[in-house]
Amino acid sequence: MTNATKSEIKKVRKAVFPIAGLGTRFLPATKVMPKEMLTLVDRPLIQHAVEEAKAAGIEEFIFVTGRFKEMLNEHFDYQPELMETLEKRGKHELVEKVRECQLPEGSLFLTRQPKPLGLGHAIWCARKLVGDEPFAIMLPDDVVLAKTPCLKQMVDAYNTTGGNLVAVMDVPREDTSKYGILDAAETKGNLTNIKGLVEKPKPADAPSTLSIIGRYILQPEVFDYLEKFETGAGGEIQLTDAMAKLIGKQPFHGFHYEGQRYDCGSRLGFIEANIAFALHDPEIGADVKKIVKSHA
Ligand code: G1P
Repeated sequence: MTNATKSEIKKVRKAVFPIAGLGTRFLPATKVMPKEMLTLVDRPLIQHAVEEAKAAGIEEFIFVTGRFKEMLNEHFDYQPELMETLEKRGKHELVEKVRECQLPEGSLFLTRQPKPLGLGHAIWCARKLVGDEPFAIMLPDDVVLAKTPCLKQMVDAYNTTGGNLVAVMDVPREDTSKYGILDAAETKGNLTNIKGLVEKPKPADAPSTLSIIGRYILQPEVFDYLEKFETGAGGEIQLTDAMAKLIGKQPFHGFHYEGQRYDCGSRLGFIEANIAFALHDPEIGADVKKIVKSHA
């Protein structure tokens, strides 16, 4: 498929955050607290994802939540008592930090995924809120440390390509069974044309080692396939399978972002992300470097 013409490219205004997962890999920390509230240096994972979306021009934030996830919505709400107390104490910098995580009024939307039927099902649960326009998906477990936030890079590319974009990275072949994998055609610059997509193939069956990470820009036609509720890898309704059906009908590209991705859904990835983000922190970075060296 060739790129869409400029006039056909609708702005990406909405982002979906699937956050209904149980976070079993972080038990007991996530027994009561949602895994997306785990702190990466000074703010929860969900805030990193929301800030990245804001930086990409997203105006509507759609949380697909589940049971015991209220804390995630609360985090982005107005906190008058706290703000007042901090004001009275003259803690203006802290007031700013609290204000930073407020979302503009009427921009946070909630839907629920009542059963853990897979990522595709979670996204389908947001269909009414997305409506008939392109949208982004952010998986808060995947965090990207980058000069230009990853989703912003994608939106910039999308403004030329239109259609569908998934962020991709190369992984060791033994890891293909953890990801959605591209059947890749030619690559030009930071875009790879996609011939097919396979969810979590065994290393021997993987058509490439280019894997999808948790940033997507999709056209609403993906819902036509999600609503069929077909199950795939792991017996779940897979987003990858529905996306694969769009290939050939709409432009579909893998986007090679600039930056380093961390898998905050695993304990090691989460610890590495904390070290990397802390080293880049303007306030504590230099001291963190000394600490890390002292442990080497
Ligand atoms: C999901 C997607 C997979 C993608 C991955 C990125 O898998 O199904 O295609 O590569 O996110 O993190 P999960 O990690 O939820 O099993």
